Amino acid sequence: MTPVPFFDLTRQYASMEKEIQEAVLPVFKSQQFILGPTVADFERQFAGAFGLSRAVGVSSGTDALVLSLVASGLLRGQGVLVPSFTFFASASAVSLAGGRPVFLDVDPSSFLLTPDVLDRFLREETRPGPDNRPVTRRGNHPLAGVMAIHLYGQMVDMEGLFQVARSHGLWIVEDACQAVGARHNGHPPGLFSNAAAYSFFPTKNLGGAGDGGLVTSESDDFADHILRLRVHGSRKRYEHEEMGYSARLDALQARILSVKLPRLAEWTARRQALAMRYNEAFRDIPGVFTPIPLPDCHHVYHQYTLRIEGEGRRDALRNLLSERAIGSEVYYPIPLHRQEAFSGLLPETAPLPASDKLCREVISLPVFPELFDHEQERVVDAVRTFFRG
Ligand SMILES: Cc1ncc(COP(=O)(O)O)c(C=O)c1O
Repeated sequence: MTPVPFFDLTRQYASMEKEIQEAVLPVFKSQQFILGPTVADFERQFAGAFGLSRAVGVSSGTDALVLSLVASGLLRGQGVLVPSFTFFASASAVSLAGGRPVFLDVDPSSFLLTPDVLDRFLREETRPGPDNRPVTRRGNHPLAGVMAIHLYGQMVDMEGLFQVARSHGLWIVEDACQAVGARHNGHPPGLFSNAAAYSFFPTKNLGGAGDGGLVTSESDDFADHILRLRVHGSRKRYEHEEMGYSARLDALQARILSVKLPRLAEWTARRQALAMRYNEAFRDIPGVFTPIPLPDCHHVYHQYTLRIEGEGRRDALRNLLSERAIGSEVYYPIPLHRQEAFSGLLPETAPLPASDKLCREVISLPVFPELFDHEQERVVDAVRTFFRG
């Protein structure tokens, strides 16, 4: 049986092999591999593509988050609210930047942090602190900010979240690592926050040939601070104003990303068409919940993720898919508040039933742009057979 891959990067490369090879040659000729005009060109191209003021290339999505948190002024030990249902780096970035992740739940139908979930958490789990900023009731930790995560390619309602966060004196950093090209109410990430952090990990909707990331900000001061932080806290060679990092974007990555960026809209449209086909095929299966696009959301379907109700049903479906050589994944099987790396935080973590439940029920199906229609029909047929039988 020919496998239906969950993801296949070789197909995209085959479709643009010559372009990519020609794009990287000048970098080899110049031998300027780190930063320089090539990276600056890509930064301008990226900001221009989404109507943003500033974009700063960095070494990975994780570093984009860490630098954004540091530039937000996060102080040692201050809390940052992070949804527990996400990839590890959304929260590890808080710890790496010297802060303390404080986990909160998500809305189970959209998988996202919503203004309501944030508002309820702040009312029930915090009290006003000395400077009127919230302090957690369970751990007595002062809170500084919120991490908004645009999981699977769908944006959080940023205007709504901003209103709630601002009324408590909290800033927001956006984890847009899975959401390049996404919009809410016509707005890209980064307009209602200090910054948005992107990842160009090869499997992302816009992927490099290795690690890479980027920070966008509408504030020149903030973007300039990221420029310093990515090169050892330095503006002028060998003069260091503050502690910084070695977190630069390579010129080779910038060239490859520059060639790929103009294709992103077309790739996203294909992802959306695949998602619509799945939605239609699974709409009336009892116990199966298809992803619900929020109103006014341009969802870019980094993942197409279903929720399967019923003890053990999700895993049984995965077994059937694997018997038919169809790839699937579980993003994510363990909520962050139950990860060993964060075990010290568990005693002061509020119950997070939606995150626990989602980890038992979610399954992601193949949704990459180069997936063939006949391959998708095999996935559809397998899922429908499972629920009929
Ligand atoms: C939601 C989320 N946050 C952060 C990251 C970290 O990005 P990177 O792997 O580029 O460090 C990723 C991707 O890996 C991610 O999916």
